[in-house]
Amino acid sequence: MSERNIIAIVDQRSATAPANALPRIPDTLPAPTGLLSDALGRPLRDLRISVTDRCNFRCSYCMPKEIFDKHHQFLPQSALLSFEEILRLARLFVAQGVQKIRLTGGEPLLRKHLERLIEMLAALRTQDGAPLDLTLTTNGSVLARKAAALKAAGLQRVTVSLDAMDDAVFRRMNDVDFPVADVLAGIDAAVAAGLGPIKVNMVVKRGTNAQEIVPMARHFRDHHGGQVVLRFIEYMDVGATNGWRMDDVMPSAEVRRLIDAVFPLAPLDASQVGETAERWRYRDGRGEVGFISSVTQAFCGDCNRARLSTEGQLYLCLFAEQGHDLRSLLRQPHPSGRTYTDAEITGAIGAIWQDRGDRYSQLRASQPPSTGPSGRRIEMSYIGG
Ligand code: GTP
Ligand code: 5AD
Ligand code: SF4
Ligand code: SF4
Repeated sequence: MSERNIIAIVDQRSATAPANALPRIPDTLPAPTGLLSDALGRPLRDLRISVTDRCNFRCSYCMPKEIFDKHHQFLPQSALLSFEEILRLARLFVAQGVQKIRLTGGEPLLRKHLERLIEMLAALRTQDGAPLDLTLTTNGSVLARKAAALKAAGLQRVTVSLDAMDDAVFRRMNDVDFPVADVLAGIDAAVAAGLGPIKVNMVVKRGTNAQEIVPMARHFRDHHGGQVVLRFIEYMDVGATNGWRMDDVMPSAEVRRLIDAVFPLAPLDASQVGETAERWRYRDGRGEVGFISSVTQAFCGDCNRARLSTEGQLYLCLFAEQGHDLRSLLRQPHPSGRTYTDAEITGAIGAIWQDRGDRYSQLRASQPPSTGPSGRRIEMSYIGG
């Protein structure tokens, strides 16, 4: 295989701004209208909140064992945003236009008492008085135990990451010998708890799990009466520890042809602006599948997603090299000795979003991948998908 496009393996987990670089508070603080737009005219609608940087899996494309080993320093408890801090920021983001919140990790279900945070977030209302679209991305390992409590706390739906149906392939990919049956039981429990429509995300890596594409499609067609939507994700050059190479990417068009040859497909219209997945349905009526083509067909044009890291850094792109330190606005005193007000933090969020020009995947299409001028890039396990 070619050695082109290999990204050096360096540990650069937390590429945050220096502690003293506080976000700018604008001079005037008009009441938020929920109609913010960034430098490319994109609204702020989707907030992804990472609640832990830990995970019990070691998927090689995300947390390779060699890097995330027993010497790896995960964040100390004191660095994590508390639930109260998360709620306060979430409320301010909602005032600025956010309508959807996704909890991620690492593995979010490893955060203790997560149900309590879900209850708190479920009580938020958008500018129009509507409940949020409140969802969570999980590896499914403890979902069988937790699905009912998550639903009771107010979670609306879940997305489960699953890369293979074959037990041996799955155990190898999670690299901790975790059995596929337990994740499938988690998906069953989520369906039974009413956490649908459930999405299952499969990252396709050529030479690793491409042979699992059709078995995965078959399984989710045959079970749950079309209630589970399987989505195939192109393996991305996110982070700097997974040794990404273009040769390992299987373009969505190729994945789609493989499925179409066995189970004929027809295209569907996008259901929401800014949607990551291109949707297709089985012609025989057995549900739908999605294709997330972040490498071959970038969708930055209407990217309305902001990401809040476990330690309260705001990232404007999955490929950002630098975060904006919102935690300091929550914890440090204003120069005058008082705490920062909601209006000031809301204003800071607005100013950060208005300056945003990120469109990494679109630019990557026209230039070779790099780790950028700082040579650092955040990890998916730190910021969540
Ligand atoms: P739904 O609202 O449930 O459809 O979720 P979603 O498609 O917005 O998000 P999800 O977290 O399920 O995203 C699935 C995968 O798409 C992630 O794991 C990433 O691989 C990729 N992805 C999501 N958001 C972005 C993004 O903003 N940029 C890029 N490049 N990839 C993304
Ligand atoms: N490329 C694409 N998707 C990735 N994920 C993690 N790393 C990558 C990558 N390099 C996805 C996982 C999961 C979510 C948390 O992010 O599969 O669905
Ligand atoms: Fe795998 Fe998700 Fe854990 Fe990353 S966060 S190691 S993709 S299970
Ligand atoms: Fe959004 Fe950045 Fe992903 Fe483009 S690469 S879709 S700007 S997160």
